[in-house]
Amino acid sequence: MFNFGVMASGAGSNFEALLKQIQKKRLQAACCFLIVNNKNCGAAQIAQKNKIPVYHISALTHPNPKEYEEAFLTVIEQYPIDFLVLAGYMKKVSSLLLERLKNRILNIHPSLLPDFGGKGFYGLRVHEAVLKAHRSWTGATVHLVNSKYDEGRILGQSMVPVFKNDTAEVLAERVLKSEHKLYWKTLRDYASSLGY
Ligand code: GRF
Repeated sequence: MFNFGVMASGAGSNFEALLKQIQKKRLQAACCFLIVNNKNCGAAQIAQKNKIPVYHISALTHPNPKEYEEAFLTVIEQYPIDFLVLAGYMKKVSSLLLERLKNRILNIHPSLLPDFGGKGFYGLRVHEAVLKAHRSWTGATVHLVNSKYDEGRILGQSMVPVFKNDTAEVLAERVLKSEHKLYWKTLRDYASSLGY
């Protein structure tokens, strides 16, 4: 059994998939909070539906950079979390947070890293690049977060075929489905490797 917090910016389907696995008792964990940088995102609505506290932290709520960084610590210090899970979180994680939760922050990326990762590779751009490179396989990667985009230790990957007539949108959908299966298992296995 372990506790985690989530940070998200978008639709929140990965977040929701994690909550489903907890409800099904496949993931022996509790989600303590959600931090969003956009208070109207889908992820925030999913949290509200599931009675999970939501915190909005952005340059709008905290225009002062120091207070912005500290706002994350204020939230995480209120909860006994073992991990912080990024589920479509589009902002850089502050160095304060990285230090505080060293090797405890996970992210999911919609490609087989190290391919198609790094600055600029997000959303449909990733899948467009995969199609442009004529790859027959793509996939998803769960990795630890460090100060460089998409470069932390890889914890798990799943492979997804690319078909001849795929558009970036169709491919994105197929990869997203595989992310939902990959994230909870990788989180479970990583936690278990640390003794949880
Ligand atoms: C996913 O494709 C994830 O790999 C990337 O952002 C997307 C988030 O989707 N980091 P969702 O908000 O979980 O539906």
